[in-house]
Amino acid sequence: MFRPAKAAPRPVEPAGGQGGGAVPRHIAIIMDGNGRWAKAKGLPRAAGHKQGAEAARKVLRAAGEAGVECLTLYAFSSENWRRSADEVGDLMGLLRFYLRSEIEALHKEGVRLKIIGDYKAFAPDIVKLIEEGVARTSSNRRMTLAIALNYGAQAELVQAARRLAERAAAGEIAPATIDEAVIGAELDTADLPPLDLLIRTSGEYRLSNFLLWQAAYAELLFVDTLWPDFGAEALAAAIAAYCGRERRFGGR
Ligand code: FPP
Repeated sequence: MFRPAKAAPRPVEPAGGQGGGAVPRHIAIIMDGNGRWAKAKGLPRAAGHKQGAEAARKVLRAAGEAGVECLTLYAFSSENWRRSADEVGDLMGLLRFYLRSEIEALHKEGVRLKIIGDYKAFAPDIVKLIEEGVARTSSNRRMTLAIALNYGAQAELVQAARRLAERAAAGEIAPATIDEAVIGAELDTADLPPLDLLIRTSGEYRLSNFLLWQAAYAELLFVDTLWPDFGAEALAAAIAAYCGRERRFGGR
């Protein structure tokens, strides 16, 4: 692959998944369409979220079997607090249920649970379940499931900028040494592989404040399928579409 001689450091450039046949190392998904799925079936929105959580479980398994190293799921954005108290309560109930019932299954499957976002804003019992789940699975190496909870990419970048500014003000780092790698290392995703493929379901074409920095060179895929209908076959089709793309990272 061509690289300009004076290229700036590009922490987002994958070492592996280059498209053209290789399975993406890191896939992120904006799981959209739960509400429309429920409405089309005459069901309450909560039923759509429940079916969405089932889809997440299926897609995680399929991703692991395909050899994907990391799956990042946008489960609750920092903007989702604006939904009705009932809907937020339903989502929190689902989160509680899955943290209680799924951690052992994740552990047996060799999956490491990671959370990105400010999960400490959640109820104390959920924070405890999250931290127990993260600790329980921390030594697993087969695959990482990163769940974005109370996550917003702009807030993530603000936090990183503040931490770096504080270190610069304290004389610990020189501002001139702040580059892409330094910023990338301050993000919640610092220990994850570079993002290769970002999928949004339900026919919407927005990133909605998700992984804005990390998506710089990711392949984007927008599909019409509503998230609760997305499963192993849809994931395989997404991976096939990714494999057919030519990734140039700004080169030719
Ligand atoms: C978007 O669909 C989906 C969400 C806001 C939540 C995603 C959550 C899940 C898939 C369930 C698993 C989550 C937890 C917390 C365990 P939407 O409601 O915006 O759908 P719509 O655009 O059709 O209304």
